[in-house]
Amino acid sequence: MGEQRLNLPADFEFGVATASYQIEGAVHEDGRGPSIWDTFSHTPGKVVHGDTGDVACDHYHRYAEDVALMADLGVDSYRLSLAWPRIQPDGKGPAEPRGLAFYDRVVDALLEHGIQPAVTLYHWDLPQPLEDAGGWRVRDTAERFADYVEIAQEALGDRVTRWITINEPFCSSILGYATGRHAPGAREGDGALAAAHHLLLGHGLAVQRIRAAAAHRAQVGATLNLQPVSAVSDREQDRAAADRALLLSNLLFTDPVLAGRYPQLARSTYAALTDFGWLRDGDLEITGLPLDFLGVNYYFPSRVRAAPYQVEDPASRTADDLGYEDVVDSDEERTAMGWPVDADGLRRLLRWLHDSYPQLPPVYITENGRACDDVVAANGHVHDPDRMRYLENHLRAVADATAEGVDVRGYYCWSLLDNFEWAEGYAKRFGIVYVDYETQQRIPKSSFEWYQRVIRDHRRAAAS
Ligand code: FCB
Repeated sequence: MGEQRLNLPADFEFGVATASYQIEGAVHEDGRGPSIWDTFSHTPGKVVHGDTGDVACDHYHRYAEDVALMADLGVDSYRLSLAWPRIQPDGKGPAEPRGLAFYDRVVDALLEHGIQPAVTLYHWDLPQPLEDAGGWRVRDTAERFADYVEIAQEALGDRVTRWITINEPFCSSILGYATGRHAPGAREGDGALAAAHHLLLGHGLAVQRIRAAAAHRAQVGATLNLQPVSAVSDREQDRAAADRALLLSNLLFTDPVLAGRYPQLARSTYAALTDFGWLRDGDLEITGLPLDFLGVNYYFPSRVRAAPYQVEDPASRTADDLGYEDVVDSDEERTAMGWPVDADGLRRLLRWLHDSYPQLPPVYITENGRACDDVVAANGHVHDPDRMRYLENHLRAVADATAEGVDVRGYYCWSLLDNFEWAEGYAKRFGIVYVDYETQQRIPKSSFEWYQRVIRDHRRAAAS
């Protein structure tokens, strides 16, 4: 593996990504307030094995060791997220200096090693008091988010120049407020669509605040998780089902952010569920502010067929109940998450973005990776050839997309460490570094060494 060169642009950046609740632990330390994920993970039956982020990878205390690992890996950039409840324990009001001091230390340690921080401001750990006041269903949360972003930018903006406002608003809104699989675990129609809108509004308000303070020094973008979507057949009902799937997984987010509009299909599809009463004049100018980059998270494509709605009455449906289901063929390779493996799907997705949005800014792949059933062998090594192959093929798909004219500037592997995989708890391992949760020992997997080589080889080739 890795013998044939990856034809990526010379200045292409390589990185790794994590998120606060998934790795930090130390949930009661230094004034941190509770987040919706603390509440959710402590609710019986919500997370596999009742796992919580209470300790996670103990990164709060071991960040120096983790930064040293990244330095050894040789990445250009590290995508981390800030825990809002560390910075504003109640979701509003004055900053908690001890929380900010932690991120100061992390950012300084990264810069000392020549690693550029890419900071996500919201990776799902909403302060619980804000959820109690309505959460993302209410507009006030977007305003509170903008205030928090201003605090973060003031504290770190002298050193952080790449900001990602929100991570995967699809998951926060649809998994959080429609399917109930993620915190806060609600199952709603209009509430979930309002949540999606307020997340995007919060994103736009955050862009304004960062630009006001940082002028040109900062690059600002949002990260969306997107899928190439197709129908299993040419049957009219399957094609219509694929249109609805595309709406929910992509267009509901890409259209407001990249084109400042909601698609007509959103209005017709959700007519019985919502009157779009949460949409105010001027909002779409804010959600659609031009960005310095778009972050794209890709894991797998969506192939759908028409299926019965879960609920008969259109007005009582949850926002995800759109009369389709995903199909995976029995002979398709799947990851430990059950997700199908399709590297070319990343190329197709990037092409779709490029062809659909003339205003598409440069793209960073801000997450890509796979879960494997990793085990520590008797010799102490963790050999993960399936992950290496997955990462290599996806990097090749990025190279193919750039050859087709899509401006992709970098790639962040998900994830540096095995970590708390949300509703799956610690059962699913995505890291290129294995974490023994009993001892907190870190063991770089073979994919770590592979990625190290890829980065080194790319640099050499670019320099020659
Ligand atoms: C994404 C999340 C990330 C991680 C990966 C596997 O949806 O952004 O935190 O859990 O999936």
